[in-house]
Amino acid sequence: MLPFAPVTTSKRYITTPIYYVNDRPHIGHVYTTTICDVWARFQRLAGHDVFFLTGTDEHGQKVEQSAEARGVTPQALADENSAEFRRIMGMFNLTNDEFIRTTDPRHEQQVQSVVKRLMDSGDVYLGTFEGWYDAGQEEYYTENKAREVEYRSPISGKPLERATEENYYFKLSAYEDRLKSMFDQNPDLVRPDARRNEVLGRLREGLMDVPISRTNFKWGIGVPDAPEHVIYVWIDALLNYITALGLADKDSDWYAERQEYWPASIQVLGKEILWFHAVIWPAILMALELPLPSCIYAHSFWISEGQKMSKSLGNFIDLEQLQNYTDTYGSDALRYFLSTQGPLGATDSDFSKSQFHETYTTDLVNTLGNCASRTSAMIGKYCDGLCPTDTGECAGGGVEWVEFTTSQVETSMAAMDQFDLAGSINAAMAIVRRVDAFINDTEPFKLAKDPAASATVGNILYRCAEAIRIAACLLEATMPQKIQELRDAWHLGEATGDLRTECHWGRLEAGTAIDKVALFPRVDVS
Ligand code: MSP
Repeated sequence: MLPFAPVTTSKRYITTPIYYVNDRPHIGHVYTTTICDVWARFQRLAGHDVFFLTGTDEHGQKVEQSAEARGVTPQALADENSAEFRRIMGMFNLTNDEFIRTTDPRHEQQVQSVVKRLMDSGDVYLGTFEGWYDAGQEEYYTENKAREVEYRSPISGKPLERATEENYYFKLSAYEDRLKSMFDQNPDLVRPDARRNEVLGRLREGLMDVPISRTNFKWGIGVPDAPEHVIYVWIDALLNYITALGLADKDSDWYAERQEYWPASIQVLGKEILWFHAVIWPAILMALELPLPSCIYAHSFWISEGQKMSKSLGNFIDLEQLQNYTDTYGSDALRYFLSTQGPLGATDSDFSKSQFHETYTTDLVNTLGNCASRTSAMIGKYCDGLCPTDTGECAGGGVEWVEFTTSQVETSMAAMDQFDLAGSINAAMAIVRRVDAFINDTEPFKLAKDPAASATVGNILYRCAEAIRIAACLLEATMPQKIQELRDAWHLGEATGDLRTECHWGRLEAGTAIDKVALFPRVDVS
């Protein structure tokens, strides 16, 4: 059994799937990349050395066909559409460390050397295959699965084709036992549990060897010494996770700079592509004697206003609509919505205008924004705009702030480690809600009328500002721009790269200028 590698170093490696260039970018791509970005930023803020990878999957028959239909070369089409995906990184404030393209010669050459190595070890062999083929998905189904979907593609609805091919095969069947013990020994490898159970169920049906080459088209990476065969796009694509680190080219700069990031801390993808990631990918890693990632996380799907989004219905929330949301509510509001209301876990989530608006108004305008603005306005009015001194006495409220915030910080950090974005964010928002209740309970605005109570007012407002500062540190990965605004207005300095220490109670210094902030303007839906 290969070593399972729980994360022990300060290095963190997170990946998104690489996106097909024959599709227009939509909510699905923006979602997966955004939640990975939130995690990557959070880990960086916590002091880890993070490598965040995304990119485009550019080979395969579909790209070749679309290019032909448009009268351009597949490379030209790939260049154009890959650039479109790269553009979304800037549009949504995403901080990937590399954007890999499978047409990059550095990737292609490593894919060939991996396949050569697998041929030499006997894990890849030449054989004949007959099976049910989904041409749209470029995927073969087992007899059971084909029967289950009534011999029609569950994606396009078109009939599956009975196809025979002489191909190179990957000996997946040889890894069945090792895969089963991998699942037994690492219950957290594939998450969430419901998805893991689905994979286990399918694994019990037994594994067939998988064809890893095609001869019916040209747009792909040639099999070494058999150029009439091109490497199956899924094998080509999966390998991006290690080629981007140069693992198959020890003389490369990528290897020198990045090899220590493997094994991945977490590989994030949608539920529809879990089989490739939970079964075929680990088997390939076993064949290459590489350690397995710590976690493969399959999220569920967004639906749109209660309706499934599908290519055939053409109702995907596209970039234009997403851009409308960011124009109206700001890009951090979109990040917040995707992170807190999105389909992490095994249930789909509904992306609806009303839900977006309500989340924005309730959490960001009325809670975080209001609390920060109330606190800074009162400090302005009662403390000359300077952070008051905490002298200890403070009537009412009854909150053990140090204990409470410490425990929320731990909860938030632990949740993020588990890729529970909503849990992490909610732990931070609970601090803000407590501040709101504390203000209502202690009524500093009433106490301030009595000059004798000025120390108490100062103590209350110190607690409010300090608690908000701590919550803000925890929310920074989700809403980097808004939290920067708060940092600027409250003169908090830049993040230190040691989140836990930064969240210690009492770091906010008396005398710091606390300027007024209006973080989240109310949006009028009409
Ligand atoms: N190229 C393959 C992945 C290869 S990885 C080695 C691929 N590409 S894709 O362009 O189709 O991108 C799929 C990504 O978008 C997946 O993470 C998928 O889950 C996500 N989404 C597509 N539709 C989605 C929703 N409706 N909701 C959320 N995410 C979904 O598959």
